[in-house]
Amino acid sequence: MMKPVFILLAVTCMMQSAFTQFEPNYDESKVPQFEVPDLLTTFNGEKITKAEQWEDKRRPELLRFFEEEVYGRVPGNLDAFSFKLLEQDDSAVNGKARRKQVAITLEKNKRSLNFNLLLYLPKGSPSAPVFLGYNFHGNHTVTHDPKVLITDAWNENNEALEISNNKATEASRGKRTNRWAIEKMIDAGFGLATIYYGEVDPDKNDFTDGLHALFYKEGQERPETNEWGSIAAWAFGLRCAMDYLENDGDISKVVIFGHSRLGKAALWAGATDNRFAGVISNDSGCGGAALSKRQFGETVGRINHSFPHWFADAFEQYNGKEEQLPADQHQLLALIAPRPLYVASAVEDQWADPKGEFLAAYYASTIYGLYGKAGITTDELPAVDRPIQNTLAYHIRSGGHDVMDYDWEQYISWAKKLFN
Ligand code: GCU
Repeated sequence: MMKPVFILLAVTCMMQSAFTQFEPNYDESKVPQFEVPDLLTTFNGEKITKAEQWEDKRRPELLRFFEEEVYGRVPGNLDAFSFKLLEQDDSAVNGKARRKQVAITLEKNKRSLNFNLLLYLPKGSPSAPVFLGYNFHGNHTVTHDPKVLITDAWNENNEALEISNNKATEASRGKRTNRWAIEKMIDAGFGLATIYYGEVDPDKNDFTDGLHALFYKEGQERPETNEWGSIAAWAFGLRCAMDYLENDGDISKVVIFGHSRLGKAALWAGATDNRFAGVISNDSGCGGAALSKRQFGETVGRINHSFPHWFADAFEQYNGKEEQLPADQHQLLALIAPRPLYVASAVEDQWADPKGEFLAAYYASTIYGLYGKAGITTDELPAVDRPIQNTLAYHIRSGGHDVMDYDWEQYISWAKKLFN
C-alpha cells in the first residue's frame, strides 16, 4: 500500500502541474492571434442585420450556448415562492431612508431554502429605482446599522473581517461599508437591495447544500454535465429576488450590480432575465466581461481548476482550448442589449484582464447599435479614471480589485441619466 506521504506528494505534484499548465500570461505580446466570434453571423452562417433577426435567431442560440456549455441550465422550476416582511423602520441611514428586511423562501421537492433581502429606500418619493447586488460576507457587513440581521449561513473565514469558524458574528458588522456607498445612493434617489450570496449557494466545491440540492431527483448528488454551477445558482437567486422586488410598490426599477465572481453572476442574471433594467459588472474578469480567447490573466483552465463548482462541468472541455470556443464573453454582454450595461475594470487588476473587459464591451456595442443605442465606439482603452458613459458604459479606474467610492460615483451618475 502507498504510504500517506507519497499519496500527498503525488496529489501535490498533480495540483502543481495543473497550475503550471494554466500559468497566467501578463504579456500583451503573447496574447494569441484569434478571430472574435461574430455577433452578426449565426452558427450556421446566416447574416444578421436587424434587431428583430438578432432577437429571433442569433440571441436565442447564443443564450443556449452559454446555458449549455458555460454556466449550466437550471433543471426546472420552483414548486413555491413566498416572502415575509421581517421588520421595517423609518429612520435608517441618518434618517434619510427606510429599511426593510424580507425573508424569501424557495421550495422544491419538499425541500426549502431561505435568504434575506436587506432594503434601504430613499424617503420622500413614492417609488425609487434600486441597485440589487450580492454581498460576500453578510448583509450586516455592508452597514453599521445595528438592526441588520446577522446571517447564520456558512461563511468563508476572513481574518480582516473577523470571521472564523465559518460563522459571521457581531464582530464583522460594518466591516465592508467601504464597498457600499449607501448614503450616496440614497442622496441620489436610489435604493439598495442586498443579499448574502452564501445564503443562496455557499461558495464551496460541495453540491450537497444550497440551491442545487433543492432540485435533485431521487439519489442525485451533483448537477448533470450541462446543468448549473454556482454562478448560475446565484443568478437564479437574483431572479427570485426580482420576483419579490417587482411586486414591492416602493420600487420602480432594478439595476443589478456585482463585483468579481458576483459580477459574473450579475451578468448572467441580466442576460437571462430582461426584467432587470440595467446591469453593472465591477471587475468581473474571466467568465464575466473579459474575452476568454485573449488568455490574459486568469484563463478558462485556471478558473475551472481553482473553482470547479462555478460553471457547468461542460465548460471544462475548453480548458486550455479557448481557440475552440464558438462564442466569447462580448456575446454574453450583447445578450443584455439594449438595456443599459456598465463594465468597469481597475488598472492594477490584471488578473481580470481590463483590456479584455474593455474589448468585450467594445464588440458588444454592435448590438446596441442595432437598437440605435450608443456604446463604445473606439477599440482604444480609455485613459485611467476617464469613464465613457453611454447606454453601454466603461471605465478603468486607478487602484486594484475592489469596489470603491469612485466606482459608485460613476454608476450613480450614469444611472441617474438613464433611470431617474
Ligand atoms: C478569484 C477568481 C476570480 C474572481 C475573484 C473574486 O480571484 O480567480 O475569477 O473574480 O476571485 O471573486 O474576487
